[in-house]
Amino acid sequence: MRARLDIDLATPEPPPQASIDAAMRLLKTGHLFRYGEMGGEGNEAALLETDFAAMLGAKYCIAVNSGGSAIFLALKAAGVKQGDKVLLNAFTLAPVPGALQHLGAETVLVDINDRLVIDPDALRSRAAESGAKFLLQSHMRGHIADMDEITAICAEFGIKMIEDCAHTMGATWNGVQTGKFGIAAAFSSQSFKQFNTGEGGLIVTDDEDIAARAILMSGSYMFFEQHAAAPPKHVFERWKGQSANHSMRMSALTAAILRPQLPLLAARNTRWREIHDRIANRLHRHQMLRLPHRPELENYTPTSIQFFMAGGNIDAVVAESTKHGVPIKFFGGEKAVGFTSRSPHWEYISGDQQVNQSEQVLSTLCDVRLPLGLSDDQADVLADVITQSIDAVML
Ligand SMILES: Cc1ncc(COP(=O)(O)O)c(C=O)c1O
Repeated sequence: MRARLDIDLATPEPPPQASIDAAMRLLKTGHLFRYGEMGGEGNEAALLETDFAAMLGAKYCIAVNSGGSAIFLALKAAGVKQGDKVLLNAFTLAPVPGALQHLGAETVLVDINDRLVIDPDALRSRAAESGAKFLLQSHMRGHIADMDEITAICAEFGIKMIEDCAHTMGATWNGVQTGKFGIAAAFSSQSFKQFNTGEGGLIVTDDEDIAARAILMSGSYMFFEQHAAAPPKHVFERWKGQSANHSMRMSALTAAILRPQLPLLAARNTRWREIHDRIANRLHRHQMLRLPHRPELENYTPTSIQFFMAGGNIDAVVAESTKHGVPIKFFGGEKAVGFTSRSPHWEYISGDQQVNQSEQVLSTLCDVRLPLGLSDDQADVLADVITQSIDAVML
């Protein structure tokens, strides 16, 4: 009998009761905006920033309205100006090159390898030929490059790294948390990430100038002293006249929903990893499927699973699998569908940027979302739907 999955894979994890209680308490006060004219100390957004900075072991944290805004502000606060070249791994999602476009920066795409991470050799050659002084390192789908090597290359070329950790909340490389390798990092709490607030973003940094500029540009008006995980006032004095207000603040309501989720991260990641590895082990046995290699130093925090499918008729397998309850996202498809995204779809990027190696890797890449509520049995059914769909179409 053909397997069929009866759960919507796009089911987000509902916020816990503590989030609902905090949100209700706040709603009754009406103070949904994070700043108060009579002082906003103790506001949920400031408390969240303090807790998140402590969780990451970072000095400063700035809560904003989305992961894309966090990337934009982190880069802008780090000094990226219009026309500056920024290196970016070619496997990432549309809001990432979108943030570079918003900055007026020039995206310099760097090839990935079949581990789905930036290729160190490609990074060296692109850095040398472009002269770019910034790298936006996007840990797309939670795949983490050899960060010791990437950090060394950045040091060699005088490149400042900003990390996009939208998919790596709590992940580590060689024992170091992602978000701690660059000069600043951006996180997302959009519904399909480790934390769910619908929309939301967080920036962490140990650099006082980046922190002050990001706070000012996020739209703090002159209420920046209501931030707790922030540098002292004199740092703001250096920047306040020159920092435009981009109105990208996080609302107190979003922060109230997010803060009670922080202590749940480790348990959520453990379960997500179990689900992922269980499915990976089952898919791995199929002759037409290959999973990207994961080195021991990579402690990954998957919220989805990626695999390469041989055989050529992937669109038909996707249709068959979708019919049986498992919508596969195919990154090699000609058009962007739903959340899929490949560099040829970003037509606004200038120049003819050859990333043939990436295109080759992505041409057979498939991806399936993994809701945290998936039981072991459902995880097995999910894998069976995929393998049986391949058998039905290709064998
Ligand atoms: C790799 C990556 N970076 C950044 C983002 C942006 O996050 P947001 O949707 O919160 O703007 C996303 C969105 O899913 C993403 O997949």
